[in-house]
Amino acid sequence: MADVNVARSGAVLELTLDRPAKKNALTNSMYRALNVALHEAERDQSIGVVLIAGAGGVFSAGNDIGDFAAAVSAGGEMAGADFIRKIASFPKPLVAAVDGLAVGVGTTMLLHCDLIYASESARFSLPFVDLGLLPEAGSSLLLPRRVGMARASAWLLAGESFSAAEAREAGLVNEVVAADALLALAREKAAALAAKPRTALLAARKFLRGDKEEILARIDAELDAFRAALASPQAQAALAAFLNKGK
Ligand code: COA
Repeated sequence: MADVNVARSGAVLELTLDRPAKKNALTNSMYRALNVALHEAERDQSIGVVLIAGAGGVFSAGNDIGDFAAAVSAGGEMAGADFIRKIASFPKPLVAAVDGLAVGVGTTMLLHCDLIYASESARFSLPFVDLGLLPEAGSSLLLPRRVGMARASAWLLAGESFSAAEAREAGLVNEVVAADALLALAREKAAALAAKPRTALLAARKFLRGDKEEILARIDAELDAFRAALASPQAQAALAAFLNKGK
């Protein structure tokens, strides 16, 4: 599928963001491919866990900026919105392996993952406000809950980037390992989860993840505000500056 590799290993479905020339920035077609894969993983009883990783030493540079800029003329329609709703309501455990950069939705999608492993070189950033945009994917609700208001404000409002060690210390990441050990560890943990009694695992996870309706309502409210922000002159100027860099 388009820039997303889907591979099966036992009861684990592995989704790899694979657009390294563009730092795995997520295009509309990649979101659609992810949605299809998640939809199938949800229905397929033989799949217990989904593992998300990035190819080429990068997790993801976030939403494709060109697609963001184009979303305004498309009436604010963003395939990313469907992906965010999908991942937030996905009923099976999600494991993430984060190597290198995780920007924007590359970080916020992790809030919907259950176990997150990062390489020592992983670096996270949430530059929404600097781009004239707003936090999405339920991050305005889930990030302060997860890491406390002080860190959430530094990361989401002040736009401070943070290291794998800081993410681990904050409770966002489970474990930090050398880059060459990352995928093996994430695969081992995913396979171990998938081998557990399925009904108990899914029920326990459902309680752990909290009130799905509350999270989905926040996602929708954030998206309404996000669409309005995207159309603002500030956001359009910031996106155009990125797209025109070096020209
Ligand atoms: N959307 C579209 N293209 C992107 C992208 C994105 N989010 N992130 C990176 N790319 C592209 C670059 O335009 C560049 O393409 P080119 O080689 O055709 O010029 C290529 O990926 C490599 O990126 P580059 O900027 O040269 O790499 P870098 O290592 O110097 O910087 C980043 C990496 C991620 C820090 C930088 O690319 C960046 O800031 N990207 C935007 C991140 C962002 O704001 N995402 C949205 C958050 S809401």
